[in-house]
Amino acid sequence: MTTITTTTGAPHAAILGIGAYRPVRVVPNADVVEAIDSSDEWIQQRSGIKTRRWAGPEESVQMMSVEASRIALERAGIDAGQIDCVVVATVSHLLQTPAVATAIAHELGTNQAAAFDISAACSGFCHGISLASDFVRAGSARHVLVIGVERLTDILDLTDRGTAFIFADGAGAAVVGPSDTPGIGPVVWGSDGEQFDLIRQREDWRDVVGSPEVPGSGVMPHLVMQGNPVFRWASFAMAKIGQQALDSAGIGLDELDVFVPHQANMRIIDAMARSMKLPDTVKIARDVADQGNTSAASVPLALDRMIAEGEARSGDTALLIAFGAGLSYAAQVVTVP
Ligand SMILES: CC(C)(COP(=O)(O)OP(=O)(O)OC[C@H]1O[C@@H](n2cnc3c(N)ncnc32)[C@H](O)[C@@H]1OP(=O)(O)O)[C@@H](O)C(=O)NCCC(=O)NCCS
Repeated sequence: MTTITTTTGAPHAAILGIGAYRPVRVVPNADVVEAIDSSDEWIQQRSGIKTRRWAGPEESVQMMSVEASRIALERAGIDAGQIDCVVVATVSHLLQTPAVATAIAHELGTNQAAAFDISAACSGFCHGISLASDFVRAGSARHVLVIGVERLTDILDLTDRGTAFIFADGAGAAVVGPSDTPGIGPVVWGSDGEQFDLIRQREDWRDVVGSPEVPGSGVMPHLVMQGNPVFRWASFAMAKIGQQALDSAGIGLDELDVFVPHQANMRIIDAMARSMKLPDTVKIARDVADQGNTSAASVPLALDRMIAEGEARSGDTALLIAFGAGLSYAAQVVTVP
């Protein structure tokens, strides 16, 4: 019998640098309330959102990703040519194929890096960090670029009261590479497909185009969400997942410096922090107030802001947790780069 040679990689992996791109246009609640018969007060009270960023025509998924990645690469001290793999988490790259990751890898100037997209909605970035960590440690890649990017306004119904005020656009990127000490803890991840319909694209593309027998709607499919059950699931079930991620990394609450939950909604963030009994010493990401919910981009955008504002410092221990459509979720403890 023949023996297949396998690889082993670095003893440990870590996030070496983070970058972000926020669209230029700031959209206050005043600009969304009329179409959904709402008010600034209602939106702030129910979601904590004051403004969000919406991308302009030039701010494509690829453009925002490349901008965020260049910053992450510079901060990591890595040339694009050293990137072996590009993983892009997104649900708003509107070509079914090819993956936008290949175009991003090319524009950045990687050396023909492996490149592919993953579809795990709001939890996609944390899935990507887990893949990257395993690739680096298994020797499949030395440096991996993980991008979370969304242009959700393309698939948003601005007259839908349940989603129009929540979702937004942006990109975040992280370079994951070898490290002498563990910088990314074990992932705790999973899914609950029984709740597949809670957040979803309303129609499939065939319903839009139609068939000879049944005419299509001709209307772009939009995101729809059953806000209440999603809120309950996220607030309670996800706190347990966050605790499991801490336990599996061997980190006590007293050792945690920073909490970066998916920026879904301020009430969910507060409910999770309460359920987890986070001590006051833990700094909590609250980027959603100004940025809205950017799905796969929300965790890296939130962490980037905390670093920029001095709330998260290099070497701090952070808990990342993201959750959303699927339902799917992923959480891990990381060292802040
Ligand atoms: C979306 C969300 C803010 C809605 O809040 P809610 O309290 O669940 O709202 P409900 O749908 O139960 O409606 C409550 C009331 O507000 C009204 N309402 C709903 N949307 C409204 C809006 N945009 N503006 C004003 N009023 C609104 C409803 O008509 C209802 O009125 P009633 O009590 O007179 O019947 C909340 O469900 C939520 O935060 N869900 C999680 C969303 C999320 O973060 N998803 C992303 C996960 S990845």
